Amino acid sequence: MTRGRIELGDITAHNIKQLKRLNQYVFPVTYNDKFYKDVLEVGELAKLAYFNDIVVGAVCCRVDNSATQRRLYIMTLGCLFPYRRLGIGTVMLNHVLKICEEDGNFDNVFLHVQVNNVGAIKFYEKFGFEIVEEKKNYYKRIEPADAYVLQKTFTKTKQQQALRRIEK
Ligand SMILES: CC(C)(COP(=O)(O)OP(=O)(O)OC[C@H]1O[C@@H](n2cnc3c(N)ncnc32)[C@H](O)[C@@H]1OP(=O)(O)O)[C@@H](O)C(=O)NCCC(=O)NCCS
Repeated sequence: MTRGRIELGDITAHNIKQLKRLNQYVFPVTYNDKFYKDVLEVGELAKLAYFNDIVVGAVCCRVDNSATQRRLYIMTLGCLFPYRRLGIGTVMLNHVLKICEEDGNFDNVFLHVQVNNVGAIKFYEKFGFEIVEEKKNYYKRIEPADAYVLQKTFTKTKQQQALRRIEK
């Protein structure tokens, strides 16, 4: 594959079927209607990736708030097989990391991967993600059923920590 133009575009009611089709090709897991309904509401946290104007990838995230942490969860980030190792995953992940950086209030960003997904683990490690947990039988209908949690932690400045305390 020769080098081409990589761009990210919004996901809308008009192209959501392309996202569904793409996810069916890329992931062994089937996502339900609620997943796609929610994706339409998250704005910049979900994007389609285009290679020379063709949809070849997508990333979908959501904010995960617990009592103690504000986290960004990468639900899906994938690229069609023939278009891998062209930097498309990098463009999608950098988009997500830029959102976290500009927001300044995320403790970490995390995701699940199947334990045998060596390529994805290498990809995320390149960006400073680390395996922080192994979840046995995380997946219901696929083998291997075990998942790793990959996480990248953000270190906050003292000023950001103080602001966070005031907001609470
Ligand atoms: C993981 C994935 C998104 C990477 O996308 P990509 O567009 O191929 O990634 P990039 O081209 O930006 O790769 C950037 C770097 O990550 C590393 N990397 C990516 N894929 C790799 C692989 N299969 N093996 C080893 N290293 C890999 C390399 O260092 C690569 O740089 P290089 O090509 O210059 O050596 C892609 O393989 C994919 O869609 N996999 C299926 C879906 C999935 O498992 N998603 C993860 C769970 S959300």
